[in-house]
Amino acid sequence: MTLGIETSCDETAAAVLRGGREILSNVISTQIPLHQKFGGVVPEIASRRHIVNIMPVIDEAIKKAGITPGEINQIAVTYGPGLVGALLVGVSAAKSLAYALKIPLIAVNHLEGHIFANFLSTPELEPPFLALVVSGGHTALIKMTDYNNFELLGQTRDDAAGEAFDKIARVMGLPYPGGPEIDKLAKTGNPDALEFPRPKVSDFDFSFSGLKSAVLNWLNTAKMKGEEINNADVAASFQKTVIDSLIEKTFDSAEKFGLKKIVLAGGVAANSSLEKEMREGSESRGFEFFYPSKILCTDNAAMIACRGYYQSLTGNFAPNTLNAVPGLSLG
Ligand code: KG4
Ligand code: ZN
Repeated sequence: MTLGIETSCDETAAAVLRGGREILSNVISTQIPLHQKFGGVVPEIASRRHIVNIMPVIDEAIKKAGITPGEINQIAVTYGPGLVGALLVGVSAAKSLAYALKIPLIAVNHLEGHIFANFLSTPELEPPFLALVVSGGHTALIKMTDYNNFELLGQTRDDAAGEAFDKIARVMGLPYPGGPEIDKLAKTGNPDALEFPRPKVSDFDFSFSGLKSAVLNWLNTAKMKGEEINNADVAASFQKTVIDSLIEKTFDSAEKFGLKKIVLAGGVAANSSLEKEMREGSESRGFEFFYPSKILCTDNAAMIACRGYYQSLTGNFAPNTLNAVPGLSLG
């Protein structure tokens, strides 16, 4: 039994896994309504709310799993990347519980956790594969040759894809988080209505800040001229430009590195058009395509427990002096 704990951003989450892939409970307490009035996550408020939520969420996860604390064999916790104050709450809770229960502690990288969400949604999935991780803080292409080998092939040089979704939604007056709102709005818009500049970066890196500025400038200019703005068309055209860039780099790198399976991960993986385009593109190019169920795309602790389980198989445990590492990189 692995207890997973996740507090890197604005969700307080705990989950219990039996073995590596069977979810017994997956509790997520979201702080979204709390941060909505500020238009984004306020780090200090997030940390304070994690402190209030963490023990009730862990208690609920244990109760829903139908086990007692004594039956937990190990604790996996996110120690980075993320907001330092938020991470510290989960890390401190995990260390205290591991010490009290006399069980091993496992330090999990949040990004690796996102990829492992796929093992929970598709129990038969095995590496090697190419993973595209798209979240609020990261956009990265990762080659995974086995459960513990991550090779970063490319990443964003500036904004993450989710960050661009959130910023544009905010300027359009949509609530935080903007990704799901743009996703919804884009369904009624014309993706070819507006032509925004396509990001141009070499190799397998990404860039979204130029596109973000172009959309924001377009919106400001239209507002100043008093022109009527069709938000649905803006959302659909922006979303298409992001998706085209993600898809092109993903298929190119899978081909270059001879990988037959493509795995989507992170909060933006919940985007319905991204998932559809990736699936259709994979089918026509002969790749096998995998993506997590919606609840496992965004931050959760089941994915952290899953990653932790595979670390435990190689004896990769953490000392009780573990600290949060907000800028933790992959691998
Ligand atoms: O992985 P995640 O929950 O947290 C981070 O690790 O960052 O990702 C959150 C991001 C936010 O930027 C949110 O707007 C975006 O994922 N997101 C979406 C969708 N659902 C969540 N972006 C586009 N379409 C969606 N349906
Ligand atoms: Zn995340």
